[in-house]
Amino acid sequence: MKRAPEAACVLGTGIDLVENDRMKETLAEWAGRFRNRVFLEDEQRYCESKAEPWRHYAGRFAVKEAVSKAFGTGVGEHIGWLDIEVLRDPDTGAPEVRLSEKGRKLAASRGVHRVLASLSHTRHYAVAHALLVGESSGREQ
Ligand SMILES: CC(C)(COP(=O)(O)OP(=O)(O)OC[C@H]1O[C@@H](n2cnc3c(N)ncnc32)[C@H](O)[C@@H]1OP(=O)(O)O)[C@@H](O)C(=O)NCCC(=O)NCCS
Repeated sequence: MKRAPEAACVLGTGIDLVENDRMKETLAEWAGRFRNRVFLEDEQRYCESKAEPWRHYAGRFAVKEAVSKAFGTGVGEHIGWLDIEVLRDPDTGAPEVRLSEKGRKLAASRGVHRVLASLSHTRHYAVAHALLVGESSGREQ
């Protein structure tokens, strides 16, 4: 039996779809309380700079849920809303995920080195997909 060399591998995947109208309603209903409970300052600053902020909030909400699904934990005790931050590549605008210390500990415990995400939104929906990338220790072939 030979062992495959160490290689990057996908350790988890998650997807989420959000209705923009529900996000718009929730933002209006709970005002700053919901925003501050779910979104970090820079996330809020970016969304609020847009003509239809709820679309961008919905996209970031979807990323957070998708990442929590990729870990298999959901959002809660193991990883919270504010433990998952959606940043933007300053050159391309592509989303990047930054985890808090708590999130990084969860990632390390699973052998996850990187969290990748992609998001999209239309007038009605926002969707996001996340991948957890780590290193396989090599399996028997
Ligand atoms: C990057 C591109 C694919 C984004 O697609 P889009 O349909 O405009 O936008 P979507 O609603 O699907 O997605 C928007 C999200 O894509 C992400 N995004 C933006 N630029 C990105 C990039 N370079 N790479 C990966 N993701 C990107 C962002 O997260 C953005 O959401 P946000 O502003 O809330 O952060 C698009 O701008 C592009 O380059 N298209 C090329 C073809 C083209 O120009 N078509 C227009 C005429 S048909």
